[in-house]
Amino acid sequence: MRSWATGVGVGAVVWASLALRRSRAEGTYRPAAGETWAAITGASSGIGAAFARRLAADRYHLLLIARRRERLEQIAAELSRQHSVQIETLPADLACDTDIARAAQRIGELDRLALLVNNAGFGTVGAFAGMTATIQTDMIRLHAEAPARLTRAALPAMLARRQGAIINVASTAAFFALPGNAAYCATKRFLVTFSEALSVEVAGQGVAIQALCPGFTRTEFHATEQFSSSGKRLPQTPAFLWMTPEEVVTCSLRALGRKVICIPGAVNRLIARLPAFIPSGMIGRAANAFAV
Ligand SMILES: NC(=O)c1ccc[n+]([C@@H]2O[C@H](COP(=O)([O-])OP(=O)(O)OC[C@H]3O[C@@H](n4cnc5c(N)ncnc54)[C@H](OP(=O)(O)O)[C@@H]3O)[C@@H](O)[C@H]2O)c1
Repeated sequence: MRSWATGVGVGAVVWASLALRRSRAEGTYRPAAGETWAAITGASSGIGAAFARRLAADRYHLLLIARRRERLEQIAAELSRQHSVQIETLPADLACDTDIARAAQRIGELDRLALLVNNAGFGTVGAFAGMTATIQTDMIRLHAEAPARLTRAALPAMLARRQGAIINVASTAAFFALPGNAAYCATKRFLVTFSEALSVEVAGQGVAIQALCPGFTRTEFHATEQFSSSGKRLPQTPAFLWMTPEEVVTCSLRALGRKVICIPGAVNRLIARLPAFIPSGMIGRAANAFAV
């Protein structure tokens, strides 16, 4: 009798604490209502374009940022035809100080910015010492400095309105220290730690922060001269490891306000846990053939 009562008691405490955790997490983010904007960097292809398509369908007005003006305009034209939302394009190189400043200024000016997606990024292949310093500093600017400055531009108004969300697109690479990807892994780890710390800072103030950590995703990311001439065996990467950008976006938006770190796909969630069990040198050697 006593053990039955203890079991019920423990069950009730576990249930209550899970319910409290869930209601706290769900309470942080309230979805946008009415005339609100979303700003997306790297919106000219891949995951960023998928965010743009999904958010336009959800009736957000959009600020689309990337370098390729024509691509942005094509996507803006397509989405304005399909949905009655306002779409603004801002061609900018977010590895460049003055362009980051222009993007930050426009983001700060937007009335009712509900969502900022810091997504622009690129990969490199090869040893740090063998690559130009510029490509590495561009990556650090694009993956770390630009998201930090755009977040700084967006966050005060979100906090004042007690409504908004920021998604920082990192990678499963954030959980590894991969040879040939030093700056990539480090900058993606920056985005995860930055998001985790920010989410604690803004807890209970109506703003949700997420580090989105996709694994292999079918986009233009690997379609560069560097990847194709590197001898990486990406085409042989098993099909089950790949996701579509639309699947990644669905996972992200579903998890927003519930989880700070969102890793789309069960296999990717397992992969991200490997460093807890396997020495990083061993993982690095095994993973050297690939680059995410
Ligand atoms: N695909 C994957 O397997 C994978 C896996 C994990 C994480 N990710 C991350 O997902 C994010 C999106 O990548 P994706 O897979 O969608 O690749 P993608 O199709 O190549 O898209 C990258 C986007 O970033 C923009 N971009 C690149 N450099 C920029 C710069 N200097 N200034 C402004 N915009 C810039 C590109 O636009 P412009 O060229 O027009 O500037 C493009 O819109 C990246 O942060 C990437 O690290 C991708």
